[in-house]
Amino acid sequence: MSIRPQKPAPATPAPGKLPITELAEMKARRQPIVMVTAYDAPGGRLADQAGVDLVLVGDSAAMTVLGHDSTVPATMEEMLILTRAVTRGARRPLVVADMPFGSFQVTDEDAVRNAIRFVKEAGADAVKLEGAGPMLSRVRALVGAGIPVMGHLGLTPQSATMLGGFKAQGRSAEKALALLADARALEAAGCFSLVLEAVPEPVARRVSEELAIPTVGIGAGAATDGQVLVWHDLLGLYDGRAARFVKRYADVGATIREALEAYAADVREGHFPTEEHTYAMPAEELALFEQAAGTVDARRAG
Ligand code: KIV
Repeated sequence: MSIRPQKPAPATPAPGKLPITELAEMKARRQPIVMVTAYDAPGGRLADQAGVDLVLVGDSAAMTVLGHDSTVPATMEEMLILTRAVTRGARRPLVVADMPFGSFQVTDEDAVRNAIRFVKEAGADAVKLEGAGPMLSRVRALVGAGIPVMGHLGLTPQSATMLGGFKAQGRSAEKALALLADARALEAAGCFSLVLEAVPEPVARRVSEELAIPTVGIGAGAATDGQVLVWHDLLGLYDGRAARFVKRYADVGATIREALEAYAADVREGHFPTEEHTYAMPAEELALFEQAAGTVDARRAG
C-alpha cells in the first residue's frame, strides 16, 4: 500500500455547471467573461437566468446587505449563509465565495479550513482572497487542497485603511510594477483568475496581456478579460453616490420604493386585500362553524 500523500482528486462539477477550465478558453477566444456579485438565492437564480459566467458572493455583502461601513466586519458564518443561498439559486455559473477578513490572513491552516467550509457547507466552486506577498502561501495551500482560488489586486477593500482609503491603486510606475509582480506571483502560485480593482487601464491591460489566467476588472478599464459589478451598484439599490467605475443598468431601488408606497396607500385606504386575494369556505362548513362558535360564545357569556 502506498503511503505517499495522495493528490486531491479534482472535484467533479455538477451537471450543467460551467467548467472552470472554460474561463481560460474564453480568454484565449477573447470572449469577455461576465461576473456579478449576488448575496441570496433569487440573486443567484437571476444571474444564472441572465447567463452570467461567474457569481461572486462578495464580502461587499457587509456593506450592501448587512449595513456596515466597510467589508471588514463580514464573518465566516454570515458569508457561509449568503453563499449557501446563492448556490441554491445559481446552477450553471461558477460561484466564488469571498474569504472574509480574518478568515485567511493568519495561517495557511486557517485559510484551508475556512475555504473547505465554503466548498462543503455552502457549495461554493471556488474562493477569492485579497492580496499577494504572504498570501501567496495561502494560495498554494488552497490549490494544494484542491480548491480553486481567485486572486484580487489593486484596491483591496479589506486593507483600505492601509491603502489610504477607497482609491485607485498602481498609479505610479513603481506601484504599477509592484502590482504586475504580484499578479505574476499569484498566477505562479496557482490562481485560476485575478480580479483587478480600481487600477489604471494601461496597467490592467499589461497584466491581462502577460498572464495566461483571465483577469476580471472592476474600475480597471476595458482591456481585462472580464468585468465584474456589484449587484446593488448595477441595479441602483444603494444610497448616495456610486464609484466612478459603476454603470447603473436599472433603478430597482426606485421601483421597490414606489411599490411599497402603493402597497401602504392601498392598505390605509382599504383597497387591499380585495375578494380576489381572499379565501372562501364551503357554505355548509361556514354554517357549522358559525353555529359552533355561537355556542362557544353563549357558554362564555353564561
Ligand atoms: O466583495 C466584492 O464584491 C468584491 C468585488 C468588488 C470584486 O470583491
